[in-house]
Amino acid sequence: MESRNFIDGEWVDARDGATMVVRDPADDASLASVPRCGAREATACVDAAQRALGAWRNTPAPERANLLRRVADILRVRRDALAALITSENGKPIEESKGEVSYAADYFVCAAGEGERLVEETIDPRGRPFARRATPECLGVVAAITPWNFPLAMMARKTAPALATGCTQVVKPAEATPLSALALGGVLHEAGLPRGVVNVVTGDPQAISDAWLRDGRVRGLSFTGSTAVGKDLMRRAADQVVRLSLELGGLAPLIVFEDADLDAAVEATVAGKFRCAGQTCICPNRILVARPLVQPFTRRLAERAAALPLGRGATPGTRMGPLINDAAVEKVRRHVADALARGGRLLCGGATVPIAGGCDRFFAPTVITEVNARMLCFREETFGPLAPVAAFDDEASALGIANDTPYGLASYIFTRDPSRAQRVTAQLRCGIVGVNTCLVSDATAPFGGWGWSGFGREGGRWGLDEYLSWKYSCHAVEAPHS
Ligand code: SIN
Repeated sequence: MESRNFIDGEWVDARDGATMVVRDPADDASLASVPRCGAREATACVDAAQRALGAWRNTPAPERANLLRRVADILRVRRDALAALITSENGKPIEESKGEVSYAADYFVCAAGEGERLVEETIDPRGRPFARRATPECLGVVAAITPWNFPLAMMARKTAPALATGCTQVVKPAEATPLSALALGGVLHEAGLPRGVVNVVTGDPQAISDAWLRDGRVRGLSFTGSTAVGKDLMRRAADQVVRLSLELGGLAPLIVFEDADLDAAVEATVAGKFRCAGQTCICPNRILVARPLVQPFTRRLAERAAALPLGRGATPGTRMGPLINDAAVEKVRRHVADALARGGRLLCGGATVPIAGGCDRFFAPTVITEVNARMLCFREETFGPLAPVAAFDDEASALGIANDTPYGLASYIFTRDPSRAQRVTAQLRCGIVGVNTCLVSDATAPFGGWGWSGFGREGGRWGLDEYLSWKYSCHAVEAPHS
């Protein structure tokens, strides 16, 4: 396992030798020390990316695509080792980590194909003596700041389209989970990526992001993380007019209509809510159930949640691991306490559970019913395994509650009525809608939000747009002689 930084094709330490420890969230065991870098190393990354830009931009798209496919092949061959690494630093169950490696590989395959299909477009001259073209050009050097909840896949989601369009990139992974990103740096190197095309630096988030946003050579920044940090990046990106793509927080409503298949809705809710211990931006955060179904839905949901095996991610059979850190545990505790103090009813969970040799971060899957819009868990993203359930009376009121938020990432609806599915989907103010499913993530689809959930799309052909600048050229041509 490489724990140094990957800059200009070399594995390097921080210039002053500073390091920071990466810990297993399950027991705080030290996994590795990685460089604690700052502005100097961040700028060295941009220097390298700028030097590499000309040659990479001019590399024919099919050659770039072949390299991306090689990256996907290596990821698949190394799936189990990479999954073990993800689980060690993030804590998620090993089967989820294996899924994440495949998800990461899919982004490289998808971007390879989309990059090959990118072509100059001819624009109709509208009867005038012009030849007009729109040419896709890469943005240049771009930056990526990636989160800890999908430490490999979220870098893949940003790196693959950047490379497919001819951009070069500087990457800063989350402090909690830098090892997966460094491992991906190693895979890119092994696949034959020229030096400097992707550079991975670990360390002080403020110093590194400041260096990039002030540099002037960094033309784009893709960030996945909290809305608070996204807003701060927007302010700091203004001076150099850096193009942003922001995938921020969510407050996903999940609506179960009275005509839903109850068992399917419960299973989907369990899959969506407790994935990564509830630490995804698209986890259902506000579960709205048609009043006549509330009792049977919550009873089954609580039964299923209480039966989920909680434990270390590496233990076979574990369905939910620890939360990432103590602050995450405190936030879930605060949301549970607030809901109960305001009249919510606890059906299962509600506290951490001791796991032999583990830290106090294993929060039991929790279901609270009789929740209302004044409670914290309905107003703020919990980012943990709390499933709060409220009743609604009709479609209009369900939609009203669902849309009553400045966030708009994912929404889920459960109904057997196709016309209702279509009607409600059209009225939900968000970027992603799951109909009778919570498993919406896919490398070929546009992932992204509205409002406080950010802007820009990742995945599919849409993911490449964030790394392109279209050049319009209009050529006067001699009018044909009559
Ligand atoms: C996220 O939580 O940011 C990403 C979730 C996903 O891609 O499924």
